[in-house]
Amino acid sequence: MTFPSVRPRRTRQSDLWRRMVRETRLAPEQLIYPLFVVPGKGVRHSVSSMPGIFQLSVDEAVQESRAAEQAGVPAVLLFAAPEHKDARASAALDPHGLAAEAIGAIKAACPHLLVWADVCLCGATDHGHCGHVLPGGVIDNDSSVQTLAQVALNYARAGADAVAPSDMMDGRVQAIRRVLDRDGFAMTPIVSYAAKYASAFYGPFREAAESAPAFGDRRSYQMDPANGREALREVLLDVEEGADLVMVKPAGPYLDIIREVRDAVRLPVVAYQVSGEYSLIKAAAERGWIDERAAVMETLTGIRRAGADLIITYYAPQVARWLGA
Ligand code: PBG
Repeated sequence: MTFPSVRPRRTRQSDLWRRMVRETRLAPEQLIYPLFVVPGKGVRHSVSSMPGIFQLSVDEAVQESRAAEQAGVPAVLLFAAPEHKDARASAALDPHGLAAEAIGAIKAACPHLLVWADVCLCGATDHGHCGHVLPGGVIDNDSSVQTLAQVALNYARAGADAVAPSDMMDGRVQAIRRVLDRDGFAMTPIVSYAAKYASAFYGPFREAAESAPAFGDRRSYQMDPANGREALREVLLDVEEGADLVMVKPAGPYLDIIREVRDAVRLPVVAYQVSGEYSLIKAAAERGWIDERAAVMETLTGIRRAGADLIITYYAPQVARWLGA
C-alpha cells in the first residue's frame, strides 16, 4: 500500500496523537548538572563564555545543588578549580582540598542528591594537562594512572556517589576499581569518559574550570574526531576494566558514536552535551536568532534518540523545570 491509502500524517494531526506515538522521551531523572567549584565564600562568578553558568564557592555550590535537586535533577557532576596548582596535582589528592570539601558539603546539605566527582589532574596541575608531564612534554600514562586512582579514592572517601575519570589515560578504570575495592569502596560506581574526543567544543569549559593546557594540546590522549571504530574499542576496554557507566563526549557532533555504543554494550550510556554545545545555543538565543527552549529540547531529544540513557548538560535544572518536574 502507498499513498493515498497510506498517510503518515494521520498520527500527527493533534498534540494528543503526537504524544501517544512519541518514540523518545526526556525526563528530569535522565539529567546530570555540572558544577564548577572555586575557593572562597559567597563567590558566584559568571563564566563569560557560558552565560547562566557560574564558578561557585562551596557554599554557593550547595545552594545551586539544592535548586537543581528541587527542580528534579538527580545528580551533579563536580569540577574543582583549586587555587594551588602544582606538578603533582596535590590539591586533588588532599582530603581537605577543594573538591573533597565540596563533595562533603553538598552531601551534607543534600543527602538524596547524587554527587559525581570528575576525576582528572588538569584542574590541579600547574601545566593544565590531564596527566603527569615528563621532561620533553610527553604525558606519562602509567604514573598518571597511579595518581588518578588516588584522586578517585580521595573523592570516594569524601563521600562521592560516583567517580568519573575524564583524563583518557589507558588502564585508569582498572586501576581506580582496584584501589576503590581494596579500600572499602566496592560500591562506588565508575562513570567512565570512555570515548572522549579532542574537541574544539571544550573551549568555554576551560575558562570555567581554569584547566587550559599551558603548552600543546590534548591530542596525545583524547581521541581523534575522525575515528569511530576506535571509540568502540575504548568503550569495550573500559567495560572490561570495570566501568559501570560509559560516556561519549561531546554529544551533538558524535550521535553516530552514541548509537554504536548503545548497540554494543549493556551498560547505561551517558552523553555529555559539553560547554561549547551549550554556548552555541546560548549565543544564538541571546541574539534572538533561535528559540532557546525549542533548540535545547531538540538537541537533548536527538541525543536520547541516538541512544543515550543519561545526559550531562548545563541546561539540566532549566530543562527539569521546563519538563515540570
Ligand atoms: C577535563 C575535562 C574537560 C571537560 C570535562 N573534563 C575539558 C578537557 O578535556 O579539556 C569538558 C567539558 C565541557 O566542555 O563542558 N579533563
